[in-house]
Amino acid sequence: MKILVTGTSGQLARSLAARAQGQAEIVLVGRPDLDLDNPATFAPVLKSVAPDMVINAAAHTGVDQQEDEPERAFRHNAEAPAELARLTRLAGIPIVQISTDYVYDGTSTRPYVETDMPNPQTVYGRSKLAGEEAVRAGNPDHLIVRTAWVVSRYGRNFVKTMLSLAATRDRLQVVADQFGNPTEAHDLADGLLAAAASWQQRGGFPQRLYHLAGQGRASWYDLASHVFAISASVGGPSAVVEPVGSDQWPAKAARPANSELSSEAFSRDFNFRAGQWREQVGALVTELIGTPSR
Ligand SMILES: NC(=O)c1ccc[n+]([C@@H]2O[C@H](COP(=O)([O-])OP(=O)(O)OC[C@H]3O[C@@H](n4cnc5c(N)ncnc54)[C@H](OP(=O)(O)O)[C@@H]3O)[C@@H](O)[C@H]2O)c1
Repeated sequence: MKILVTGTSGQLARSLAARAQGQAEIVLVGRPDLDLDNPATFAPVLKSVAPDMVINAAAHTGVDQQEDEPERAFRHNAEAPAELARLTRLAGIPIVQISTDYVYDGTSTRPYVETDMPNPQTVYGRSKLAGEEAVRAGNPDHLIVRTAWVVSRYGRNFVKTMLSLAATRDRLQVVADQFGNPTEAHDLADGLLAAAASWQQRGGFPQRLYHLAGQGRASWYDLASHVFAISASVGGPSAVVEPVGSDQWPAKAARPANSELSSEAFSRDFNFRAGQWREQVGALVTELIGTPSR
């Protein structure tokens, strides 16, 4: 099975390429050949790659930045997926759209399930929800997967930021009143590849939305503390973490207080369960300390 993945340097794109060996041929295509700002680039790429499936892993992921540039956010996160959905339907192939926990407002007192009502509070969340709706409308053979708090050895993410800050600072303040599911990108890629294999066996996707995120709940403070505990244990940088409230750490985009996701439906339908975040992040930090330049 040949899968075209949008984006070349993204955490998920690189993880799919790294994890697919023997399961699927992954073709990463990004700018300038495939540019979310220029939907006219999509059709020639689809024609030349001739994939069996598209995974749209490219997005505008700058959550705060998007508050100042909503048009660009919607162009990348809603209009581009709409065009990809239209083109994949014309080509008779499925599309997998990756979405986010930030479609929820974070007021739930239990993990969100897929039937819960989205109520995004940010431009990012609204644009990603519009992307889901566009893919659902544009190609009946689709899979929409909401994930959360993605960390990896690639690109920029919270774990790598913490480790690099600890190289120069002894103490760090980290938000302790926002909760979610840290998700290791290799793990997310494994789940998507399991779903792709299931599509191949069944000849289609169940036409529904799924959550797929790491198991277990954490605050950013919990995550930072765990990163430094593991890092210190393997001789890497460490810092004292001070818990602070979101009100002490103002950001342009208000994050959900609790965006914990239940991934039970994905586990049941695709026989795949993401790992416990503590184990996944522990292994990631250990690897990053051993190979710092990525
Ligand atoms: N990161 C998270 O915590 C998180 C949480 C929930 C959901 N998600 C969703 O998960 C998916 C994967 O996220 P990620 O963490 O892998 O993202 P990422 O590391 O920020 O990578 C974003 C990707 O989008 C590509 N991209 C950005 N602008 C583009 C443009 N104009 N044309 C073509 N490609 C463009 C980038 O391309 P280049 O390779 O050219 O830079 C890069 O490959 C996204 O849909 C995101 O919304 C992420």
